[in-house]
Amino acid sequence: MANVPVLFLLLFILSGAVGAQLQQSNMIALGSSLSPSTQPNSWLSRSRLFAFGFYPQGSGFAIGIWLASKPAITVVWSANRDDAPVSSNATLEFTRGGLLFHNNQGEENIIDLQEPAFSASILDSGNFVIYNNESRVIWESFHFPTDTILGGQNLSNGHKLLSSVSTSNHSSGRFYLIMQADGNLVAYPVNSSAQPGDAYWSTQTFDGGLVLLSLNRRGLLCLRRSGLNVDTLARSSYSDKDKMIIFRATLDADGNFRLYAHSFEISNNSTGLIKWSALQNQCKAKGFCGVNSYCSSTAATADCFCFPGFVFLNPNMKSLGCYLSFIDEESCRRKEPTLFYNLTALENVEWGGYPYSVILMNKEDCSLSCLEDCNCWAALYMGGTCSKHKLPLIYGVLNRNDSATAFFKIQISRVADVSSFFIYRRRLSRYKKLSEDAHLSLNGEFTLRSFSYSELEKVTDGFKEELGRNSFGAVYKGAISEGGKLVAVKRLERVVEEGESGFRAEITTIGQTHHRNLVRLLGFCIEGTRKLLVYEFINKGSLADLLFKVERRPSWRERVRIALEVARGILYLHEECEARIIHCNIKPQHILMDDSWTPKISDFGLAKLLMPNQNGTLTSLRRTGGYSAPEWHKNTLITEKADVYSFGVVLLEIVCCRSNMEVNVSTADEVLLSNWVYKRFVTRELEKLVRDEVVDISTLERMVKVGLLCIQDDPNLRPSMKNVILMLEGTMDIPIPPSP
Ligand SMILES: *[C@@H]1O[C@H](CO)[C@@H](O)[C@H](O)[C@H]1NC(C)=O
Ligand SMILES: *[C@@H]1O[C@H](CO)[C@@H](O)[C@H](O)[C@H]1NC(C)=O
Ligand SMILES: *[C@@H]1O[C@H](CO)[C@@H](O)[C@H](O)[C@H]1NC(C)=O
Ligand SMILES: *[C@@H]1O[C@H](CO)[C@@H](O)[C@H](O)[C@H]1NC(C)=O
Ligand SMILES: *[C@@H]1O[C@H](CO)[C@@H](O)[C@H](O)[C@H]1NC(C)=O
Ligand SMILES: *[C@@H]1O[C@H](CO)[C@@H](O)[C@H](O)[C@H]1NC(C)=O
Ligand SMILES: *[C@@H]1O[C@H](CO)[C@@H](O)[C@H](O)[C@H]1NC(C)=O
Ligand SMILES: *[C@@H]1O[C@H](CO)[C@@H](O)[C@H](O)[C@H]1NC(C)=O
Ligand SMILES: *[C@@H]1O[C@H](CO)[C@@H](O)[C@H](O)[C@H]1NC(C)=O
Ligand SMILES: *[C@@H]1O[C@H](CO)[C@@H](O)[C@H](O)[C@H]1NC(C)=O
Ligand SMILES: *[C@@H]1O[C@H](CO)[C@@H](O)[C@H](O)[C@H]1NC(C)=O
Repeated sequence: MANVPVLFLLLFILSGAVGAQLQQSNMIALGSSLSPSTQPNSWLSRSRLFAFGFYPQGSGFAIGIWLASKPAITVVWSANRDDAPVSSNATLEFTRGGLLFHNNQGEENIIDLQEPAFSASILDSGNFVIYNNESRVIWESFHFPTDTILGGQNLSNGHKLLSSVSTSNHSSGRFYLIMQADGNLVAYPVNSSAQPGDAYWSTQTFDGGLVLLSLNRRGLLCLRRSGLNVDTLARSSYSDKDKMIIFRATLDADGNFRLYAHSFEISNNSTGLIKWSALQNQCKAKGFCGVNSYCSSTAATADCFCFPGFVFLNPNMKSLGCYLSFIDEESCRRKEPTLFYNLTALENVEWGGYPYSVILMNKEDCSLSCLEDCNCWAALYMGGTCSKHKLPLIYGVLNRNDSATAFFKIQISRVADVSSFFIYRRRLSRYKKLSEDAHLSLNGEFTLRSFSYSELEKVTDGFKEELGRNSFGAVYKGAISEGGKLVAVKRLERVVEEGESGFRAEITTIGQTHHRNLVRLLGFCIEGTRKLLVYEFINKGSLADLLFKVERRPSWRERVRIALEVARGILYLHEECEARIIHCNIKPQHILMDDSWTPKISDFGLAKLLMPNQNGTLTSLRRTGGYSAPEWHKNTLITEKADVYSFGVVLLEIVCCRSNMEVNVSTADEVLLSNWVYKRFVTRELEKLVRDEVVDISTLERMVKVGLLCIQDDPNLRPSMKNVILMLEGTMDIPIPPSP
């Protein structure tokens, strides 16, 4: 009995030695080759649990790494996964240049190497590594994950997992999971534009910095930050006796991210037990069902159904979605729509995407409004709001708990319409066109979303972090769940009572503006007197901070660019957007700077909410800093030229990097920048404006002259924004400005 431990020890040493030898013999030498039909068809890891080589795919073979689970192997990595399967007489050869794939059509290197290879190995972790002549790893499959990470593997910043088509087809599927640079791990459908509304799962971690998704050999799935910070997603029960458990985390074909355990010793269950999954409800995976269909789930399964009036493109592949079986849009426009269409209602379904119109009205008006509108193919009535949608409808889901009613346009069957059915034969091509149009709108043609107050409370964590406050109200930082997109939520505090429809009309106008130099409105909330606006979050502070606060002022070239971009934003508001908008409150505090230092004008369109009549009393805006035109104080009509005046002041501030209102430290007087600039202009001492900076003097002169023209007391003497831009660009002569 006493020598049992000795025997064990001996066995242990022996097995160690054998292991090392196997490891040696597992080295893949230059010139080694594989073929699907002849042995060997794969290279094995020392444990023989992982293999690299040809696995069956469709009627042929694909190249990849698999786990030798039973009854079926588990593919964990694929090379060129979207290539067609290869025939049985293909070969793969390990050469100095990498892996040379060869079939009767020719040769292809499937791995790019920076330096010559010397040997390779498939490790017990499932990592296929290639070494150079100095045994340094020069390539490893762990750095190029497909849909799976294994124990010891990380998914680093900016990298993603892309699901497979199915468990038997490892081509690129419909979902991806990305480790975003902001530190958030987020799942999206592949064909989305990765807008926050497209995400269906995320860890909601926004710390930024270097974050890795990491799975260790003991089944701990977590997010690792620099330092020792760890957010655990899943921890598997693991004890030492279960030595042969292989863990993998896979973004499955259905869009769910799951942690699996394959046991090769104790429980003998190598099929893979699910230890953890990201989604409990399959229908949460946006894009699980295709366009114009909705997802309905019971405890175990989820299925897709077409919305009323639609049929499956291919009933055997429901994820391709549905098309409308009758639509002819032109007949809608030609004729009285109500004669040809009716609406059918369906309770408790919802969908995502962005409506082109969101209006407060009652249920009956909602259905009528859609029926009579040729753009509207479906409307969603929920909580007093009517949202009208074009096709396709995306991310549909049956949600038994909410009180939504959906209306769908259907054709009324009539003998007289038979002829038009032949026209509908062309619908498939038309359908394609429609869906392209709608995708445009998804990408931002009209993207206003309606939020509830409690949603915004959640988004801002109870209005915790105040970013700032101005005449319109306080602004809070928030993050929209799932996508984790940061937003700025503005709580309007002094909106003139004007009825909700007026307010909605106004924000619809704001929502329709699209310009790179305007801050984008994403959504809104109206609940009684509570009115909030949700904007994109702009993170580099305001132009005021940039000009007056930072130690190192922006370079001259940057300032010239910024001035022009601000001018373009204002021009858009004045002349290019559908409803012309006078900002009324242009100042550097209302111009925000984004990541790439693009200026974005904020708060446009809000003045009208405070002053329904622009000729009304003007006391509701606090006007400080000398940005407002004299007409504001004269009770005359306010025109676009009021903004031109404010822009002139801002332009001079950009030139001088000095605030318009600055107190002279030595005299304690308020010194108006504009007066000072005009004096320097008259005395031809322009270089004093920029202190000792090296600038292009002709550009400087142009900017100063334009600035002085803009701040003329008489609005008629101020140029239009169009001319301001032409003058700044140097394509239009600039008159000598009179004294402002
Ligand atoms: C795998 O799926 C893709 C995309 O659906 C398809 O094009 C391909 O033919 C499939 N491959 C096999 C072997 O079935
Ligand atoms: C390889 O196989 C394909 C079909 O499987 C066949 O058409 C081709 O002739 C074969 N090539 C060689 C070189 O055997
Ligand atoms: C490895 O190869 C490089 C050239 O690719 C050579 O300079 C170097 O000496 C080699 N090292 C060894 C240890 O053979
Ligand atoms: C994964 O990340 C961990 C923690 O940063 C690190 O120790 C490990 O080496 C990484 N693994 C790979 C394969 O890069
Ligand atoms: C994504 O869109 C492209 C082009 O619009 C299409 O070819 C592809 O089939 C779509 N993929 C999925 C998974 O829907
Ligand atoms: C494990 O599975 C094999 C067949 O796959 C079976 O023969 C064996 O008895 C099983 N072992 C245990 C411990 O269940
Ligand atoms: C093995 O795993 C499969 C799938 O997860 C499960 O259905 C089965 O009950 C398991 N068998 C054992 C013996 O644990
Ligand atoms: C339209 O549908 C409503 C309710 O489904 C129905 O009462 C009405 O008769 C229909 N109108 C026509 C013209 O078919
Ligand atoms: C439905 O609502 C009830 C009560 O409001 C709630 O208890 C239940 O959890 C909800 N179910 C789902 C699936 O959201
Ligand atoms: C504003 O002007 C309109 C006509 O331009 C006039 O009807 C209205 O009474 C004016 N409002 C105020 C408050 O002066
Ligand atoms: C501040 O006042 C002093 C004394 O009058 C004057 O010399 C200086 O130019 C003034 N500074 C500015 C910026 O106007």
